[in-house]
Amino acid sequence: MLGYRKDELIGKLVTELLPEDKLYIVPEIVDKLMSEGESFTEGEYLRKDGTTVPVETRARVIDTPSGKRVVVYVRDISRRKQSEKELIESEKRFRSFMDQLPGAVFLKDSESRYIYINRFMREVFNADEGWIGKLTSECFPTEEAYSLIKHDRNAFDKNYSIDIQKVVDSNGKERYFQIHKFRISKGENENDLLGGIGLDITDKLTAEKAREKLEAQIQHTQKLESLGVLAGGIAHDFNNILMAILGYADLALLDTPQGSPAISSLHEIGKAARNAADLSKQMLAYSGKGKFQVIKLNINDIINEMSHLLDISISKNAVIKYNLHDNLPSIEVDPSQIRQIIMNLVTNASDAMDKMSGVISITTNLMECDSEYLTTTFMNDQLPDGKYVYLEVSDTGNGMDEETLAKLFDPFFTTKATGRGLGLSAVLGIIRGHRGTVKVYSELGQGTSFKILIPSVEGEPEQITRSVESKQDLDRKGTLLLVDDESSIRDIGKTMLERTGYTVITSSNGREALDIFRERHEEIDCVILDLTMPHMDGEETFREMRRVQNDVCVIISSGYNSQDVTRRFIGRGLAGFIQKPYRLSELTAKLKEVID
Ligand SMILES: Nc1ncnc2c1ncn2[C@@H]1O[C@H](COP(=O)(O)OP(=O)(O)OP(=O)(O)O)[C@@H](O)[C@H]1O
Ligand SMILES: [Mg+2]
Repeated sequence: MLGYRKDELIGKLVTELLPEDKLYIVPEIVDKLMSEGESFTEGEYLRKDGTTVPVETRARVIDTPSGKRVVVYVRDISRRKQSEKELIESEKRFRSFMDQLPGAVFLKDSESRYIYINRFMREVFNADEGWIGKLTSECFPTEEAYSLIKHDRNAFDKNYSIDIQKVVDSNGKERYFQIHKFRISKGENENDLLGGIGLDITDKLTAEKAREKLEAQIQHTQKLESLGVLAGGIAHDFNNILMAILGYADLALLDTPQGSPAISSLHEIGKAARNAADLSKQMLAYSGKGKFQVIKLNINDIINEMSHLLDISISKNAVIKYNLHDNLPSIEVDPSQIRQIIMNLVTNASDAMDKMSGVISITTNLMECDSEYLTTTFMNDQLPDGKYVYLEVSDTGNGMDEETLAKLFDPFFTTKATGRGLGLSAVLGIIRGHRGTVKVYSELGQGTSFKILIPSVEGEPEQITRSVESKQDLDRKGTLLLVDDESSIRDIGKTMLERTGYTVITSSNGREALDIFRERHEEIDCVILDLTMPHMDGEETFREMRRVQNDVCVIISSGYNSQDVTRRFIGRGLAGFIQKPYRLSELTAKLKEVID
């Protein structure tokens, strides 16, 4: 072991076989031998070649006939020392590996008692070594511990289990961990352990949720758009048909002798057709294609003008309180659509009162909205920051539950026996068309509030003029050019207008109308022009006619607006606009207004 021959070794002092720095041990051993008769130490011996060898030394005093002697048994333990060193290295490696893992690693016993936790876990839960030996229920709040332990049991039973757990970290932040747990089998006499690794998936989940939300929003927008196209198309065709029904009913009334029983039937036909026209107007609004005449106005003017109408439309138990702020900037809107919004909201508020008495408040004001606020509103189109004029209609009615709140803007969603479920759909379509948004607050049994926000614009508001239904004026004389691609509208229009005393020329398209106009513009007092026509549409026809005669008097009529055309006509000499379906009295009033 030491590299000596026997004869070299015999006669040497023990101290000659020890490295110099280990010599101090000799007196200690001698002391021990004297007092206890034996000793056991670990140390080093010096080889003949000068190297050292780690040894384990057992010494014992024995009595021999020639007196006391010491027997020493020296064992080379270099191999054991080596593996001990390796074990320490490996343990160090393991700890540093575990402590650098970006996840929570732990070992528990079969009773969910912690045996090991890595640094990640210590940091996230502000845990120290004190966790070691503690039960899971001592380390986590009851509810979290319950679900963690349940998962432990499951993993123990099935050897492996994966689960997502919500835990609150030491900063109070909610985190989600995807935790894999596995059973570690030990020898026969030892209990199995539970190993686990938990990965923080909070960010991933948040991103996923955000993506799902975005997808749902996109789908929602697409749904709105395709339903809008459908609703708009139906409304357009209906408006032309309703024009004919209303027109012929009006004509028949003129032809029916006083006192005839047919008169009330004809009135009923007119009433039903106007109800249908209302429905079609709501559908058109929902489609976003009902915006005809865009002007700058002060929203208070519209509300003031409507107040009488509102007062008589609501239930007898309700009162309206107005809270309109002065000095509001203008908004750029179609006034008839804003009326439609107000009417729909106030009707709903009144319906919500049921038989109770209550208050409907109508508030207007200005509000500075940042993008953070805007994202809390119903509309998901990215709206710009800025100043918005708002209109709030709140009631003290019965409020809405979650389910109703989630669906209230859906077309045909209603909770009312006689409701059509189009009121709020129309409101939504109009708001979208005006780049505005809406916020709804509601509490069951308390009441509801709808806040409509519309971007404010610079510039003075215009005076709003409303075509008042005037009495039919049968003496009116003048020549009109009526241009429409629908033959029923040409026929009914011609008959109606001729009855009132006008001379009427008709044309089915823009090109033909232009030819007629070129030839006879001297005698034509006013042109009634449909907006959507094949070949040459209303806009182009209007432009061409102005080349022939700059101050041509044109009334645009339409049942459907695809491009917001009237906005571009403004300031360019358009005399007026009339929305289909219109009644004879409305058209004659308009004509009187513009020709005068
Ligand atoms: N102010 C409100 N208070 C309580 N519930 C409301 C209120 N406004 C709307 N709702 C709910 O939203 C639903 C949809 O409203 P919406 O105006 O679109 O349709 P409707 O009033 O039922 O029918 P329509 O307006 O077409 O005659 C209503 O049926 C009602 O349940
Ligand atoms: Mg309604």
